[in-house]
Amino acid sequence: MSVATQAIDGKAFAERLRQRIADHVPSVEHRLGRKPGLAVVLVGDHPASDVYVRNKAKQTVEVGMASFKHALPADTSEADLLSLIETLNHDNAVDGILVQLPLPKHINEAAVLAAINPTKDVDGFHVINAGKLATGQSGFVPCTPLGCLMLLKDVIDDLSGLEAVVIGRSNIVGKPMAQLLLAENCTVTMAHSRTKNLSAVVKRADIVVAAVGRAEMVEGAWIKPGATVIDVGINRVDAPEQGVHKTRLVGDVDFASCQGIAGAITPVPGGVGPMTIACLLANTLTAACRHAGLPDPIV
Ligand code: GUN
Repeated sequence: MSVATQAIDGKAFAERLRQRIADHVPSVEHRLGRKPGLAVVLVGDHPASDVYVRNKAKQTVEVGMASFKHALPADTSEADLLSLIETLNHDNAVDGILVQLPLPKHINEAAVLAAINPTKDVDGFHVINAGKLATGQSGFVPCTPLGCLMLLKDVIDDLSGLEAVVIGRSNIVGKPMAQLLLAENCTVTMAHSRTKNLSAVVKRADIVVAAVGRAEMVEGAWIKPGATVIDVGINRVDAPEQGVHKTRLVGDVDFASCQGIAGAITPVPGGVGPMTIACLLANTLTAACRHAGLPDPIV
């Protein structure tokens, strides 16, 4: 039997979240005597990173916060980057610090992430924050999985006891996503590129989170009827049907083949993507509240 599949509108959800953040900013600004501030550090000229960083800065200002952008040349030494982070750690106008990844190969990413003051680590990548998430303490949760959880909770009243399969085991998405679902009392399976019989594993799931980075890998035939599918993938593929040299964005899930099977699914674009920056702003507001001695915002 075919079900009507709901397309989860992450763009609209993210807009509402940004509005709630913007509504909350003035009271925090009043308490701090300054705007909440986010510093974004970009090293080199990775084209996709450049777009992300520009969008982050634009949306930070739109919700009434201060944006500090530090664009460093590709040949910046690790020592110079660490020195900038130390300056930002001590800068009272900065509540959140984000170092855009990937970094150039000569820089040790783990050392850089470890240098960020965990109370300003709005990306949630510091091992202290990863450890807090894994042990049920309040820290900062990485933005993309946090956005995925918000969308899931909007669609599903009670996640408790549901079977969740996370495909992909990155530190940025897969691992924190699994921790968040576990904290919601889901029965969590982490699948990845070496998982045997992946289609059968996915077929068990009431919730599927696909974060593998392989275009349209998850097929509708793998999905349990009525399941909720969250597609984190953003893959650019050729689109000859739209003309020569044309490309389009697709997720890790074959969206079309899930229609009539999934209960709800995030589209690409317009699903998880817009949630990431909105959650970064939410984390920055939380950092500012903590620095001001205010309770965590409920946004
Ligand atoms: N590169 C791709 N996604 C992210 C992200 O969420 N945070 C940072 N810092 N870099 C990224």
